[in-house]
Amino acid sequence: MNPFIIRGYQGNTFFCDREKETEAILQALHNGRDMTLVSLRKMGKTGLLLHVFEKLKREKEFETIYLDIYHTENLNGMINQLATAVFRLKKSFGERMKEFLSTFRYVRPIISVDPQSGQPSISFQIADEHEARSTLEDLFGILRQRSLKKPVVVAIDEFQQIAGYPEKNVEALIRGLIQTLSNTRFIFSGSNKSILSRMFGDATRPFYQSTEMIYLSEIPRERYSRFISSHFKKDSRQVEEGAIDEILSWCRGHTWYVQYFCNKLFETGSPITHETLFNTRQEILLSYEPFYSEYRNLLTRHQWELLKAISRSDKSDKLTSGDFIRTNNLTNASTVKRGVVALFEKEMIFRTGDQYVVYDVFFSRWLEGG
Ligand SMILES: Nc1ncnc2c1ncn2[C@@H]1O[C@H](COP(=O)(O)OP(=O)(O)O)[C@@H](O)[C@H]1O
Ligand SMILES: [Mg+2]
Repeated sequence: MNPFIIRGYQGNTFFCDREKETEAILQALHNGRDMTLVSLRKMGKTGLLLHVFEKLKREKEFETIYLDIYHTENLNGMINQLATAVFRLKKSFGERMKEFLSTFRYVRPIISVDPQSGQPSISFQIADEHEARSTLEDLFGILRQRSLKKPVVVAIDEFQQIAGYPEKNVEALIRGLIQTLSNTRFIFSGSNKSILSRMFGDATRPFYQSTEMIYLSEIPRERYSRFISSHFKKDSRQVEEGAIDEILSWCRGHTWYVQYFCNKLFETGSPITHETLFNTRQEILLSYEPFYSEYRNLLTRHQWELLKAISRSDKSDKLTSGDFIRTNNLTNASTVKRGVVALFEKEMIFRTGDQYVVYDVFFSRWLEGG
């Protein structure tokens, strides 16, 4: 098996570090505090949540519920996810079904067959969309009952989505219900730092300062380095001096990109030399090229040039300086400012300290070279 996984969670062996963060989250849960986990996309939030849940399952002290609401567009979408997750809490099937059908006036079961495994699976969907509030109350009622027997941890991934739901007062509704559950801990997680910091940091909003925040950054270099080299060595692969440093630098230490690059390197079966690195990099960029060309259609010519310039810039560059504008043919400072705002809103770039960076690492490398 390829030890560099690029989705989900496969246990301790394939999970690098995050010891401090894991400990911090476990401590918070054991001491009755809720948490919010924030990072760039693909940095490892979901992996960390699943890692923490694995530990919780072993400790047997909490029951766990995990929801990913990224694809939900409204409150009903979230209710469907929650109903399905609550239904999956451990219990005999008959018992669960009975409980569900008697408690729920407004949800109906949907049976579907998993196209991969052929296994049937059951999910729930709200039957009467006008009854969102009472259905949510019912669901929290079940959670309350369950948590009296054993405390529950609910993780809601991509939580910033609720800020975009069209219904009124969603945050107040959810926050109110959460406060009725004294024996249930919540972990929220999401990538959109500005939405989340407004949600949790604005004194007029329902979730104001209701949780502790953890910001997840890159896995420390020497930890990641040791992890990567041990997996290559376990496969008896020779690793050339400096090769792992080169992988981490080229991927800026951004977890998914590092994992993907290593996954591809592993697949080659070759020794990990600078030449293998070079060839694999070319192959990755080539395979993504069609997507990158598509991006061009989403941007104006000026935004595209600006993005290219940002991919090539470094810490010393000030985007609105005369030099930078001249070297990169970028009209003038105010157009650059507007361009930066647009790219920021499209989440094509992010800001770290004084520097702007192209969000997608491989795309950035492609722009740099193009
Ligand atoms: N600590 C880790 N060690 C190894 N791989 C990881 C680790 N954390 C995340 N990954 C992998 O990196 C990829 C991106 O992580 P993910 O948790 O999905 O990021 P996020 O939820 O922040 O977008 C996933 O494929 C995941 O398997
Ligand atoms: Mg995630």
